[in-house]
Amino acid sequence: MSRVAPLATDIILQAQNVSKRFGGIQAVDNASLQVGRGKITGVIGPNGSGKSTMFNLITGLEKPDSGQIIYKGKNIAGKPSHIVNRMGMGRTFQLTRLFGTMTVLENMTVVTKENFGGAEALARELLANLGLSRLSNEYASNLSYGQQKLVEFLRLSMIESDLILLDEPFAGVNPVMEKKLLEQIDAWIIEGKTILLTDHEMAIMMELCESIFVFDYGSVIAHGTPAEVREDRRVMEAYFGS
Ligand SMILES: Nc1ncnc2c1ncn2[C@@H]1O[C@H](COP(=O)(O)OP(=O)(O)O)[C@@H](O)[C@H]1O
Ligand SMILES: [Mg+2]
Repeated sequence: MSRVAPLATDIILQAQNVSKRFGGIQAVDNASLQVGRGKITGVIGPNGSGKSTMFNLITGLEKPDSGQIIYKGKNIAGKPSHIVNRMGMGRTFQLTRLFGTMTVLENMTVVTKENFGGAEALARELLANLGLSRLSNEYASNLSYGQQKLVEFLRLSMIESDLILLDEPFAGVNPVMEKKLLEQIDAWIIEGKTILLTDHEMAIMMELCESIFVFDYGSVIAHGTPAEVREDRRVMEAYFGS
């Protein structure tokens, strides 16, 4: 069987030999990964292995010490997050970042451009789609953790994003909310968006992701299909230390 190299245009994001050190800690160590357009790509690895730092480097919250981050054909390494956002990249955080003293509706509309008159209508529609209309005027600080995660998800639909990074969206979320988050991920993929996801819920990661990159001590120690990484000896060692 001949192997056909993927077309360059199929790759929306490519991190190449990216490194980031914090004091004495090499948080990301010469890591490379590729994200196919329209796909769900996963990042897994033990706590402290550099997953969130990699997301911060990609989204412009941190500057890499070295390496390239090619997004839509441009090197965005070191570009500030507002520039990267404007290029169509959105994200959620491991700990949600809603404005507690704003209502759900306000949290959703505040991220849109000032001149976007349809923002409130769109926000109401998105909330209604997931059966959350009753939360519209609730202060974000009054929401359950899972509800906050969901609102953070919906807020991403308020802006035009092509690539969405989700940092541990399922952590601490009950099964009902988890189902809603999964529905939203499905909807994004149907809309043609691309997703880069990290989570500790292995069953979900294996089910959702087309390819997975495994981090350990800041390095990518394995990548491949879920079946391939599951069988990888280095992955077993990183997780179970055997
Ligand atoms: N801003 C920071 N300052 C210092 N150390 C950091 C900072 N961010 C992350 N680290 C360290 O970098 C390493 C990787 O962290 P992180 O990327 O959060 O890992 P993960 O998301 O895989 O749990 C950890 O040792 C963490 O303590
Ligand atoms: Mg993390």
